[in-house]
Amino acid sequence: MTFTPRIFSGIKPSGDLHLGNYLGAIRQFVPLQDTHETIYCVVDMHAITVWQEPEDLKRRTYEIAAAYIAAGLDPKRSIIFNQSQVMEHAELSWIFNCVARMGWMARMTQFKDKAGENSENVSLGLFAYPSLMAADILLYKSTAVPVGEDQRQHLELTRDIAKKFNHDFRKQIAELGFEEDFFPITETLATGPAMRVKSLKDGSKKMSKSESTSDLATIYLLDDADAVAKKIKRATTDPEPLPSEAAGLESRPEAENLVGIYAALSNQSVDAVLAGFGGKGWGAFKPALADLAVSVLSPIANEMQRLVADRGEMDRILRDGADRARAIAAPVMADVRQIVGFIR
Ligand code: TYM
Repeated sequence: MTFTPRIFSGIKPSGDLHLGNYLGAIRQFVPLQDTHETIYCVVDMHAITVWQEPEDLKRRTYEIAAAYIAAGLDPKRSIIFNQSQVMEHAELSWIFNCVARMGWMARMTQFKDKAGENSENVSLGLFAYPSLMAADILLYKSTAVPVGEDQRQHLELTRDIAKKFNHDFRKQIAELGFEEDFFPITETLATGPAMRVKSLKDGSKKMSKSESTSDLATIYLLDDADAVAKKIKRATTDPEPLPSEAAGLESRPEAENLVGIYAALSNQSVDAVLAGFGGKGWGAFKPALADLAVSVLSPIANEMQRLVADRGEMDRILRDGADRARAIAAPVMADVRQIVGFIR
């Protein structure tokens, strides 16, 4: 069966947007709107799997939608909306809760990392989170999802849920007139040097919204130019000069991270960056990276600030996006209800 090529991705408003979100996700979203139907969501229902101050949740929801637009998404060509405005996400996720197995969920490394020693005390929603994510994606029969590396395992689980649903209900799916599968087996799009941006203070950890070891570890999209430059100049490095080829970055995680960031921000390969900087020290590389980062991020930050100040316009964009998302989701959900045997 052929599915309409359709892209879906989302970011959760649980912390302030950072360079990892930009390079791993938002930047990948933009060119896809030229070639695909694209749906980009602010996944507010995911955010509340851990406690969010309601006012912060609202502010961050607007900020993410503004970042999408500031980075180059066009709300006319892409569907931009916040998840909780389309209730079908919650409805499908309940059905997926009954398709997914406890064992599958218990293997999710992100749950284990987040729950840590405290797994008795985290919300049930945090455990069920990947089935809501599968619902986000499959509600639109999305064929591909651009994400950073850390989401790969959740995408595998999405495929497992789609396969089990297609298999368990194959008789009803056929009766509804579908020749083969009801849900597509969604592809993960995660390529390039910036799919795994690391903390600036510890090359073994990913850059994250909740990095707590140091204020200097994460570059936020709304940081001003001085903060960006300061964080890059104080980033942890090793004492060696830069190598001339990518192979020379092996077992140098901090160096690999900074060169990867440079490559991504300048749209070059890692080898091309090293052709220019090989043999040079950090005293030459860091100021160049700081200038590059400021030149890319400052215009985005300024545009984000401008957009979030206009709540009326942001509300209008999100409502329009939600209406268009619902127009795709509602017929899919109507089919799902019939397939599982709900009376309407
Ligand atoms: P979230 O909100 O943690 O992150 C949003 C996006 O940013 C990417 N990302 C990174 N990429 C590179 N380096 C990093 N250090 C880094 N940190 C974050 C993530 O890979 C992601 O693409 N579960 C998802 C949100 C979600 C979703 C979905 C995504 C919910 N439903 C459906 C795609 C499709 C999450 O928590 O992402």
